[in-house]
Amino acid sequence: MPEKMGRIIVTGACGQIGTELVPELRRRYGQENVLATDIRGPTEPLAGSGPFALVDVTDRAGLARLIERHKIDTVYHLAAILSARGEREPERAWEVNVEGLRKILELAREHGLRLFWPSSIAIFGPATPKENVPQETVLCPTTIYGITKVAGELLCDYYFHRFGFDVRGLRYPGIISSEAPPGGGTTDYAVEIFHAAVREGRYTCFLREDTVLPMMFMPDAIRAAIELMEAPLARLKHHANFNVAAMSFSPAELAAEIRRHIPEFVCDFEPDARQAIADSWPRTIDDTAAREEWGWRPRYDLKSMVAAMLTRLSERYARSSAAQEHQQPRGS
Ligand SMILES: NC(=O)c1ccc[n+]([C@@H]2O[C@H](COP(=O)([O-])OP(=O)(O)OC[C@H]3O[C@@H](n4cnc5c(N)ncnc54)[C@H](O)[C@@H]3O)[C@@H](O)[C@H]2O)c1
Repeated sequence: MPEKMGRIIVTGACGQIGTELVPELRRRYGQENVLATDIRGPTEPLAGSGPFALVDVTDRAGLARLIERHKIDTVYHLAAILSARGEREPERAWEVNVEGLRKILELAREHGLRLFWPSSIAIFGPATPKENVPQETVLCPTTIYGITKVAGELLCDYYFHRFGFDVRGLRYPGIISSEAPPGGGTTDYAVEIFHAAVREGRYTCFLREDTVLPMMFMPDAIRAAIELMEAPLARLKHHANFNVAAMSFSPAELAAEIRRHIPEFVCDFEPDARQAIADSWPRTIDDTAAREEWGWRPRYDLKSMVAAMLTRLSERYARSSAAQEHQQPRGS
């Protein structure tokens, strides 16, 4: 029997993933059954499309009030400080990513909630194999973000084994999406490049051209979260740490694929501090456990993702320039 979702709270709902996860959860489980929350106010498409509350995930009492008032039974806990921002604010990264998660876990234990929590490929480090990283491997991250994600995986597994409640998670690769901008990670170039290609025909990439990293298109990322949460618990041998893979490519390969659609597109490379973070991460991931335990299969590869991204962004920019023209005062 697949697991059932009742009333859901999403933390960090205004971020890159939440902006697309919340509408899909509302479509599947009912608009009023999905409470979106964040430390900042909602923008489109979350504004006015269902319940929203401002809350800081380190505020346990505030979260408890929302959980009780909205009779929540499931949490999608997305609030976090990502890799590049984490290096600028390490203390804040620990506070939000570890202390915030620990408070959510305690609330989940007290209120009998199910929990989805995303880990990341940032848990891997220089001593992890670069190719086809197995499910069980060396976790030795060099960023504070990676360290908080390792701590998070261990905490989630501890709560599962110690208290027996249902917590699930996966190690997302870099996520590519057309809606909300990414929140300060090392794979952000793979989103920025599309906006620059469509608007200016030119992009300067902050990673070296041959830096291969694992990536995933947002529709696959959303489906992975929902399919993992709906999988029968009895089928899962792992819980909060599934490797998931979809595609791996370098900035040069991505630029070449974009050039097949926009031949005049030019990409330059000026690596910055994020290069060292990218160099510590693996190139490809073995996701056999996710495939076997809950049937994970990606639908998008590099080619189909690039085509979909360019279509979505071209339409979006055409719509916004048409709207601007419409607002211009007409001459007589
Ligand atoms: N986007 C990716 O490429 C990627 C890859 C791997 C894992 N992840 C994980 O997925 C989750 C969501 O990532 P995202 O890309 O949407 O991140 P994001 O940075 O775009 O969004 C995070 C959201 O959390 C909110 N937030 C920050 N601190 C908060 C606090 N104290 N209280 C409440 N909200 C707070 C921010 O306002 C933001 O809207 C994170 O756990 C992240 O580590 C993302």
